[in-house]
Amino acid sequence: MTFDALWSDLADVGRDARRGGFSRHGFDDAELTMREWFTAEAVRRGLDVDTDRNGNLWAWWGAPGPDAVVTGSHLDSVPGGGAFDGPLGVVSALLAVDTLRAQGFRPGRPFAIAVFAEEEGGRFGLPCLGSRLLTGATTPERALALRDPSGVGLAEAVARAGLDVDRIGPDADLLARIGTFVELHVEQGRGLVDLDAPVGLAESILAHGRWRLTFTGEGNHAGSTAIGDRRDPMVPAAAAVLAARRTASTVDGSRATVGRIVPNPGGTNVVASTVDVWLDARALSTSDTRGVVDGIVAAARAAAADEGCGLAVREESYTDTVVFDPVLRDRLALALGPVPVLPTGAGHDAGILAAHVPTAMVFVRNPTGVSHAPAEHAERDDCLAGVTALAAVLTDLAS
Ligand code: GLV
Ligand code: MN
Ligand code: MN
Repeated sequence: MTFDALWSDLADVGRDARRGGFSRHGFDDAELTMREWFTAEAVRRGLDVDTDRNGNLWAWWGAPGPDAVVTGSHLDSVPGGGAFDGPLGVVSALLAVDTLRAQGFRPGRPFAIAVFAEEEGGRFGLPCLGSRLLTGATTPERALALRDPSGVGLAEAVARAGLDVDRIGPDADLLARIGTFVELHVEQGRGLVDLDAPVGLAESILAHGRWRLTFTGEGNHAGSTAIGDRRDPMVPAAAAVLAARRTASTVDGSRATVGRIVPNPGGTNVVASTVDVWLDARALSTSDTRGVVDGIVAAARAAAADEGCGLAVREESYTDTVVFDPVLRDRLALALGPVPVLPTGAGHDAGILAAHVPTAMVFVRNPTGVSHAPAEHAERDDCLAGVTALAAVLTDLAS
């Protein structure tokens, strides 16, 4: 089957007319349709598909077993995301299996394609939910307490998807089966464009996390409340946004973003009573990341005190710096010939698995570097080069 045929299957799933791009979130209708599509494509290839206890899909070529070579990615997106982040790795994995089959290759090791659930945290707020639960990087209690923006709990969502809520949690047996994990992903930067290379390998991922800042003030009337009488939580929330930019620009290699802000009750003519601000912060090390967050929170606290508002801060997720296994990377580089090795600021299930098994990533050139937005793109020829690279790597690893 060609790349175009497989890729076009997904062109209409989860399209978001309001935001642009795609909105496919863990266990929602669009993501369930993506899962059904993947299952059908895997079954068509004679793979045996299982859903694990945490909602991740596993398509086994031959019997499941220890020391498996696993490739794959995710099928969910950020709100209004691009087409490539996640699905490119899954489509490429299916096409790599086709390539291996066409070459008459039969894996000498157990082999699987994995699709991880809710990688973006776009619905329940916790990124890499499926791989974190599998590896024990988050507890089932913590996960089951999560709610989506409309108040639906994770328990309800996964039950609707047919999972047994009581069995969610670390799965040591399944984890022990993974010998090596390789995730192909669209690059989320311009590293490969600048180096004039269609594919590359990942070196590292920035330390990164998410914090929720809840500012509490006094709800009131926008017209009849004098400025001096207000306790408006939107004012320190705005200060937090500006502090994020200011603070991150003083720490080399760091980034801080407020991409989501929710005032309650959210009326044009209403002084909000509370405002939730989600901060995404990333840096080269844990100490740099903590330093950036501490600086932003200190500025936010001072601004809240000036306005007579309260501030509560909650860390919603954190992942330390990841350095991918250098021995595995060197082996991949040997299989691929000279390719660039690049750091990234984006999080991945590969980053979660890297704490447990040798893990690598193959990046495919992104002509603009734009990601997490509808303009995210990879040229068809580069996608095909990615499939060829992934097939070469898997042939080497699974021989
Ligand atoms: C996932 O793509 C992330 O880096 O947030
Ligand atoms: Mn992403
Ligand atoms: Mn991704």
